[in-house]
Amino acid sequence: MSRFFITTPIYYVNDVPHLGHAYTMVSADSFARWHRQISDDVFFLTGTDEHGLKIAQAAAENGMSPKEWTDSLAPRFQDAWRKLNISYDDFIRTTEPRHYETVQSFLKSVYENGYIYKDIYRGLYCVSCEAYYQEAELDNGNCPIHGRPVVVMEEENYFFRLSAFTDRLLEWYERHPEAVGPSSKRNEALGFIRQGLQDISITRTSIDWGVPVPWDSQHVFYVWYDALINYLTAIDYGRDLEKFELWWPSVHHIIGKDIIRFHCVWWPAMCMAAGIDPPANIFVHGWLLVGGEKMAKSAGNKVDPLELANEFGLDAVRYYLLRDTNFGSDGDFTYEALTSRYNSDLANNLGNLLQRVTTVVVSKLGGQAPKPTADSPLAVFAGEVMESARTAWSQFAPQDALEAIWSLIHEANARLEVVAPWKLELGSELENVLGDALECLRLVCIGLYPVMPDTSSEIWRRIGMDGSPEDGNALAALSWGQYQSSKVIEKGIPLFPRRK
Ligand code: ME8
Ligand code: MG
Repeated sequence: MSRFFITTPIYYVNDVPHLGHAYTMVSADSFARWHRQISDDVFFLTGTDEHGLKIAQAAAENGMSPKEWTDSLAPRFQDAWRKLNISYDDFIRTTEPRHYETVQSFLKSVYENGYIYKDIYRGLYCVSCEAYYQEAELDNGNCPIHGRPVVVMEEENYFFRLSAFTDRLLEWYERHPEAVGPSSKRNEALGFIRQGLQDISITRTSIDWGVPVPWDSQHVFYVWYDALINYLTAIDYGRDLEKFELWWPSVHHIIGKDIIRFHCVWWPAMCMAAGIDPPANIFVHGWLLVGGEKMAKSAGNKVDPLELANEFGLDAVRYYLLRDTNFGSDGDFTYEALTSRYNSDLANNLGNLLQRVTTVVVSKLGGQAPKPTADSPLAVFAGEVMESARTAWSQFAPQDALEAIWSLIHEANARLEVVAPWKLELGSELENVLGDALECLRLVCIGLYPVMPDTSSEIWRRIGMDGSPEDGNALAALSWGQYQSSKVIEKGIPLFPRRK
């Protein structure tokens, strides 16, 4: 059995979960679901990032202690992910005792290995990023990400000797070309490293909302340094060696392109400094814009994924997010594009296929499903399609998996139009065309389950299958001819009524 460890960023707990976060979550969820379907042992991790200046400030503004404040906020993320059907296995909060323990033992190793030292730091700090910037990185004196002024901070800090890792990182990426994908993002990471790396300050004395430095109680670790280590907390680094070695280093970190430097430069170097292997794979996805604009509080264009799900149905939103943007490239959310995907792909194609087949099986065959034919004109094509879908899922390319599956839906619909079973007399021609179409629906359910779990389970039920499309091993279920209904087929109401 293979193992599949997949993570998302842990989100700043004081943000409201919006469509950008949902994009990462639905993507990661689809990969986790696919890998469970092919019988991998999956561990899907997400959580919230709860330390740092920004959160301490917000807590104070709201008259609460930082812990009370984060306790009141973390459930918003958990609720949102439950409503979006995100099948995570563990939700980590950086304020949990297990995390304090791991951060302290990990950084103590880095310290003992000689990669942490004390010095005075004076620098330009963006509170929103929780990060220092070099003068040259600023955009007219403002933070290049937030466009807001940076502040001058001066403090006695512990530093991480990141500069010691420039060559080692370049060498490591040379030997592991697959470590960062897609390749454009790998090049971006290599670009940062080739500029030469400077040591970074990793502790603060000016705030106390963080994980205490175990060898110097005046200091707390800087929020990014604590946050990245969440990936190890969840697999019991320093507590359970066997569990840690089961899951590390063959992890897949799914991140947005805003946090490349932290994940592709700092994090592998930290791992090296602590004496463990860097993460095997970091997949960087693009940025989801809204009508061409960046989602921001100030622009008032943060799209609420839960509202969208209420309006269009959850699976339609999940489908749209994964279908309309190539994973790795930037995307643009618009209501028009969502509506058009809904009407054309879901109502006209998928919904129509199901409705036609079930209607004719019920009206002409009393709901008793016929079997597919071994030499069906669709058999070879369906085999190729499912092979493409399988490959696409293994390559983190959900849009390709969906495109392949929709080509099968098209073919199945096209054959129904040519053969027109609704006009046929009872007999083998009628039975064959319906049996083949039902087999296509069975295959569609398996390939589509990672993206549209409720829809594909419902289609599965209506075509009389037992259990759910996630049962068994999907790899064995992909070959043509396995459809066998044990029950009477159900003609239900349309799954995707057309929208205006
Ligand atoms: O950076 N398009 O948290 P964060 C696509 N706490 N993805 C988006 C997005 C958009 N418009 N907006 C947000 C942090 N994301 C740190 C992470 S990890 C050890 C610590 C997603 O709340 C995307 O995954 O700012 C991005 O990387 C992440 O949210 C940033 O979340
Ligand atoms: Mg951010």
